[in-house]
Amino acid sequence: MDFVNCYADVNRAGAYSTLEFANTYYLAYRDLPAIFAEHVTGMRALDFGCGTGRSSRFLRNLGFHVTGVDVSEDMLRIARATDPDGDYRLVPEDNFDQLDAGTFDLALSAFTFDNIPGPSKARIFGDLAKLLAPRGTIVSVVSSPEIYTHEWASFTTKDFPENASARSGDVVRIIVTDHQDRRPVEDIVWTDKSYQAVYREAHLRAVQVFKPLAKGDEPYSWVNETTIPPWVIYVLRRAP
Ligand SMILES: C[S@@+](CC[C@H](N)C(=O)[O-])C[C@H]1O[C@@H](n2cnc3c(N)ncnc32)[C@H](O)[C@@H]1O
Repeated sequence: MDFVNCYADVNRAGAYSTLEFANTYYLAYRDLPAIFAEHVTGMRALDFGCGTGRSSRFLRNLGFHVTGVDVSEDMLRIARATDPDGDYRLVPEDNFDQLDAGTFDLALSAFTFDNIPGPSKARIFGDLAKLLAPRGTIVSVVSSPEIYTHEWASFTTKDFPENASARSGDVVRIIVTDHQDRRPVEDIVWTDKSYQAVYREAHLRAVQVFKPLAKGDEPYSWVNETTIPPWVIYVLRRAP
């Protein structure tokens, strides 16, 4: 499949860098501190697909020592400019040779696997697992398939009715309404069943799966967030 990472784009990177933790994104990040407290031992973190550094700075503010990696130089340039003391590295074609195997207590991927085609997912999860310390944990935040067929505080999909017939592995489109760049983002939709198959292939197991919902008392104008989970959070360990 000829899939282009839409974040390898200077204008998209600039727009993305203005996002923080409001609206639908709030739900992706809200539960992570409690999840880390329960499942992560140690403070060495890899932020896989760190983008412009939002997720890396989030981890650092929780006390983690963070290495952020990404395939987009446009995104990394902004991450480094925003956070000159941070450790942000380019990993062309997901070659992790510059990282020490067995050293990370946590590998977080926040939305990164939405942009990785199906045939590459298991290999990359397997390579991330090799970077983990013996009791290390992968936490992967991905879009639920439902995000692409509903309206949200941070996104619109109504111009893409074809998303409804997309199957796992297909390209879907979604527009981020929280920033200025209204060009559609192209993602790969991937079901829970498909993720579970990828985890088995990568010799990982999901020890917990979260589907965060809004409670309704948050300071945001929810659309479907109180009833339909926009995100899925997988807590992954090496299979015994
Ligand atoms: C939606 S952004 C999320 C950025 C950041 N994690 C955050 O929460 O703000 C997804 C990022 O994943 C990166 N990405 C996509 N495919 C990747 C790959 N194969 N390896 C590493 N990063 C990748 C993109 O370049 C982009 O910066």
